[in-house]
Amino acid sequence: MNTKIIKIDQEKIDREALAAAGEVIKNGGLVAFPTETVYGLGGDALNPDSSEKIYRAKGRPSDNPLIIHIYRMEDLERIAVRIPDAAYRLAEAFWPGPLTMVLHKADEVPAATTGGLSTVAVRMPSHMTALAFIEQSGGFVAAPSANISGRPSPTLAKYVAEDMDGRIEMIIDGGSVGIGLESTIIDLTEELPVILRPGFITEEMLHRVIGELSSVGNKDKPEGKESPKAPGMKYRHYAPAGKLTIMEGNQESIILEINRRAECLRGEGQRVGVITTDSTAERYLADSVKSIGSRGNANAAAKHLYRILREFDNEGMTVIFSEVFDSGGMGQAVMNRLEKAAGHCIEHIE
Ligand code: TXA
Ligand code: MG
Repeated sequence: MNTKIIKIDQEKIDREALAAAGEVIKNGGLVAFPTETVYGLGGDALNPDSSEKIYRAKGRPSDNPLIIHIYRMEDLERIAVRIPDAAYRLAEAFWPGPLTMVLHKADEVPAATTGGLSTVAVRMPSHMTALAFIEQSGGFVAAPSANISGRPSPTLAKYVAEDMDGRIEMIIDGGSVGIGLESTIIDLTEELPVILRPGFITEEMLHRVIGELSSVGNKDKPEGKESPKAPGMKYRHYAPAGKLTIMEGNQESIILEINRRAECLRGEGQRVGVITTDSTAERYLADSVKSIGSRGNANAAAKHLYRILREFDNEGMTVIFSEVFDSGGMGQAVMNRLEKAAGHCIEHIE
């Protein structure tokens, strides 16, 4: 298949070009598109064949459900039923935006789109090109992140092309995404709302709108009440090709330890990468040293993490060390993705 790439200027959205992209979706094809979080791999959410094509293009297990993207509020009630009041309040506060809500699905949504679940994940993105594209596509676009399963989500169209060239009909190039990590996911199908995936919309922000909630991995959730997990969380995720280890502890000791190991590893023919911040980047001796931004700037870290992991792949790094980054606010999402990329391999250095 020949993948067509079209560029859309965010200042002057070309609706005609997006209408052509919408036609591809309506005809059962796949189109990757920019959102404010990461690039999505879109297909018609109400067409089971399209969902199956998405799973095939990504190499993703078909029991891992897709998020349905909508462009206007009234469409929520076509794909979800028994919608709790909390969902309307969250939509009012955060839509359009980087929040995905898991709700009870309507019959019209094919099981292929929800991985056989009776629930459906819904999001209304804030990216103007995404909204216009969803509208042109008939209003319901199923879209996981536009990467091959297991690779970091794409933050630029060129990373979509790396993974999807020849596998899908079209890529809409809308430049760099704003946030760089996937949306926050909250499950509203249980009595107590549960955050399944941290993101730009933080626990505190959600708490302010709906009050009590829990999050997966939160130790103080009610006794005996197992949280339903996002099926995607059980798969290895966001992984670079090199072996990634997170080093936590004393900053000076970490620098010495990483440099010592890097020297040994390079002597053995390994190629070593380091993920750090502006303040310590110059102190590392490795094949490739990349700063995630200034220390304490979680939004910058979110924006650069996946790009850095992909660049290390392209540069052939076989071993990667990363410092720990601040975990407050958006930093929680950054550390969540970094820990997954490392397969939870974290070493404490005294
Ligand atoms: O920011 C985002 O959410 C991006 C952009 C493209 O919108 N999309 C995205 O999709 O990250 P994906 O498929 O890579 O991640 C969706 C996650 C998966 O972990 C999946 O298991 C979970 O959402 N999910 C989807 N439907 C669900 C459901 N009904 N119940 C629980 N988890 C669900
Ligand atoms: Mg994904």
